[in-house]
Amino acid sequence: MKIIPRKSNRPSTDEYFGLEAEAYGTSRWMARNQIQTTQKVLELLESEQIGGKITNKSIKSLFLDIGCGTGYSSHTILNSNFENRIIGIDVSLDMMKQCEKDSDLHLILADMRYSPFRPEIFNYIISISAFNFASAGAQSKNQMKIFIQKALNALENTLKNNARAGIEFYPNKIEEIFFVKGLKKLNFIGGLLIEQPNSKKEKKFLILKKTK
Ligand SMILES: C[S@@+](CC[C@H](N)C(=O)[O-])C[C@H]1O[C@@H](n2cnc3c(N)ncnc32)[C@H](O)[C@@H]1O
Repeated sequence: MKIIPRKSNRPSTDEYFGLEAEAYGTSRWMARNQIQTTQKVLELLESEQIGGKITNKSIKSLFLDIGCGTGYSSHTILNSNFENRIIGIDVSLDMMKQCEKDSDLHLILADMRYSPFRPEIFNYIISISAFNFASAGAQSKNQMKIFIQKALNALENTLKNNARAGIEFYPNKIEEIFFVKGLKKLNFIGGLLIEQPNSKKEKKFLILKKTK
């Protein structure tokens, strides 16, 4: 068998279909990792820079999970101390098919860059290890910038005023610049947070609050 080497060590969207989706959904290591990351993002939603402690967690709120995959992130939110309902979107039906059913979790096959939602409906948006795929399929730097801006615009458009978003992602340097510049055009406070930079444990987050 001929083994075709990967062009880069970053995952591609091809890895979320068929058998690879099944492997993702049954990996204990992945489950542990993604649950921990989601818990971290839920903590960061209460960062001082975006308004600090959330005092109304007991009021039922609507979450969007962008790139929900097999549901590790969505189920972590359902099990958190937020009273919530969640809509998960993903481009891979193979991933979403593995999501454990829950009456408070609704799944939609959709691309984060072309939001199927009407404006200002979500109290919170989270995304774990998926938002970097905003640039997937781009054939040039300019197209990368356009795709990233589309995903950011959809984020702003669907969040309610004063609502918060917590995103963990792994953009490369060029994508990171487009995300940061793109955010400046929109009504957000907060921004990029890098934990343990330049180490193997580096994690990147966008921690945001819509200002109007
Ligand atoms: C690494 S998985 C993360 C899944 C889940 N959030 C978790 O924490 O386990 C990335 C997911 O993003 C999805 N994805 C990739 N491009 C997308 C897009 N344009 N719109 C929505 N989802 C996308 C993939 O299909 C995949 O399920």
